[in-house]
Amino acid sequence: MFFSAAILGLATAAVAAPANVVPNYPAHQQSQGFRLVVNVTDKALDLKPSVQGLYVNSIHVGAGLNVAGVGSKDVSNVFYQNGTASEFRFSSATTITDEATPLTPFGLSLSKNADSDSVSSAYINGGAGTPGVQISQFPEGFLFLEPETFVICNNALQYYQGQKFLVVEQAATTVGSDGQVAKNLPEGCAPVRLVPECAPLEALPAGSYASHEFALQSECYADVASINWSQYGP
Ligand SMILES: *[C@@H]1O[C@H](CO)[C@@H](O)[C@H](O)[C@H]1NC(C)=O
Ligand SMILES: *[C@@H]1O[C@H](CO)[C@@H](O)[C@H](O)[C@H]1NC(C)=O
Ligand SMILES: *[C@@H]1O[C@H](CO)[C@@H](O)[C@H](O)[C@H]1NC(C)=O
Repeated sequence: MFFSAAILGLATAAVAAPANVVPNYPAHQQSQGFRLVVNVTDKALDLKPSVQGLYVNSIHVGAGLNVAGVGSKDVSNVFYQNGTASEFRFSSATTITDEATPLTPFGLSLSKNADSDSVSSAYINGGAGTPGVQISQFPEGFLFLEPETFVICNNALQYYQGQKFLVVEQAATTVGSDGQVAKNLPEGCAPVRLVPECAPLEALPAGSYASHEFALQSECYADVASINWSQYGP
């Protein structure tokens, strides 16, 4: 008798619990094109001046070569996710922007830094991007670029004689033999999410090397700066 009452109580609690923490996420739209907006996820680790709200762009470092950087919206890139629906589903789509003349696909790629086991630099070079660099999908409720964790660092670039630029890097989370999870955030860098903001994907002029045949309809926010994140979650 006691047990059945307890079980009944638990069952009621289990049904009632989700109603108290209804997941609630910002409204989004669909677009082939999008810009990537910086959202600092730990304000205590933000850079000075803040990198909150900056947009991903390409920093020219050679013919067909760019480092992924961040700056104002007017010099930012419009990206699209490239791949089949099934490639997207299985996290092997890529994120591409068109550059140069004639317009050529430049893929967002991650390449492990020589001095680190977990930190990669992000590039926007002519050619394919890294599979899996794509926007999060169901059951994740927020929209952001994967794989986590992206960071913004103020790094010296050799191509510019050591001048410093705000660049995008990515830190892979690792699990030690003791089961301890390590975020591996590089020192002095701000942990961020790169959040997609819808933007028109311009039609390609005749003679372009790029193609939008496999440009996916992406989920994105109309205006990232207007989102009050504290109202959403979990
Ligand atoms: C943006 O950052 C805030 C913390 O500053 C966080 O609460 C919010 O969930 C973040 N947005 C996304 C999409 O992760
Ligand atoms: C875009 O995706 C299609 C389908 O997988 C692929 O054939 C094509 O090579 C991709 N384009 C680029 C620039 O990676
Ligand atoms: C964001 O939402 C929180 C919680 O509803 C509220 O207290 C805060 O004033 C809002 N911030 C802005 C800038 O509207």
